[in-house]
Amino acid sequence: MKKQKKISTQLIHGGISEDKNTGAVSVPIYQAATFRQTELGKNKGYEYGRAGNPTREALEALIAQLEEGESGFAFASGLAAITTVMFLFKSGDKILISQNVYGGTFRILNNIFANFNLFYEIVDASNIETLETVFKKDKSIAGIIVETPANPLLNISDIEAVSQIAKKYKVLTIVDNTFMTPYLQKPLTLGADIVVHSGTKYLGGHSDVICGLAVTKSKVLSEKLKFYQNAAGSVLEPFDSWLLMRGIKTLGVRMDRHLENAEYIAKVLRNHSAVSKIFYPGFSDFKNYEIHKKQARGAGAIISFELKPKYRINDFFRNLETIIFAESLGGVESLISHPSSMTHASIPENIREKIGINKNIIRFSVGIEDKNDLEYDLNQAIEKSKKR
Ligand SMILES: Cc1ncc(COP(=O)(O)O)c(C=O)c1O
Repeated sequence: MKKQKKISTQLIHGGISEDKNTGAVSVPIYQAATFRQTELGKNKGYEYGRAGNPTREALEALIAQLEEGESGFAFASGLAAITTVMFLFKSGDKILISQNVYGGTFRILNNIFANFNLFYEIVDASNIETLETVFKKDKSIAGIIVETPANPLLNISDIEAVSQIAKKYKVLTIVDNTFMTPYLQKPLTLGADIVVHSGTKYLGGHSDVICGLAVTKSKVLSEKLKFYQNAAGSVLEPFDSWLLMRGIKTLGVRMDRHLENAEYIAKVLRNHSAVSKIFYPGFSDFKNYEIHKKQARGAGAIISFELKPKYRINDFFRNLETIIFAESLGGVESLISHPSSMTHASIPENIREKIGINKNIIRFSVGIEDKNDLEYDLNQAIEKSKKR
């Protein structure tokens, strides 16, 4: 039996890492929409690019292996992946979403699927007792979407505990693993049924490709998702599949540096006189720190914080020199954003306030630059934002 390789090796050699026809060590970009069929009912494994493409297939095999699932699926964006997973449900079903999910996930359910009588309810998935009460009283619940750490306040949910009660009530557990990646956390090994990713973030890692992934644990779910991926058609194109595989090869080294920088910056911010609140799962007094530590190999590199009222938030953003004020996260470059007006703007204000995403929250995706340059940049922008 072959020795099981460590994840840093799998990132580089996992899935289908070479071209079986030529030996090319980088899987070629098979830029083809259709494939010659040899006779009626006979082909070389591919018919039409939406149904299957060798470059996309290599990526799908890789993510399935990394997440320890049965099958992987690549989509045109993270939201396309989540949308396609929603096709597993039917009119009349209810989906639970954990407090603090990405605004776009909320928007799909609130503005699109609700029109087809697929309902949703926001729950505190970090509270297992409340969750069980919700499952007990509502038989229409068919799925639960959990983000942990959640975007943007980094709330932690216990994947194993959630999956266990979900199973008891025959509910599918879907975990958005974007913030952690399989390098740090593997939800399918903790009992989840499906993992989804915005590959746009850490997996791609260079802020140059929009893409999404889903991985299923069981054969039955794999067959269904394969059907919906082709039927709905929002597949990832060959070049972007190649870009994502290229990004994944360096995920391990990037992540190690992200973690190191984030830990340093979190301490800087925590001790800064201008900072009134900080959210970072690496602090031992962070809510559910022990749960996160049990299920993940690191705190991640997203830090959210609030500045005291005597600092002007917009002046802080305007004065940053190295750190980029932009949507998204997980790139090599440090990115900073304002969730209430950017990533979570599609959540109505009253719901946003209720789940703690107020107008003062700043979300910082710590990049892999020199950490002292990041510290300097934060300090000078904070100083310039002080009300005089
Ligand atoms: C946690 C999470 N899930 C899903 C998405 C959606 O991914 P995409 O932008 O690739 O559609 C995002 C985007 O920011 C995200 O942060």
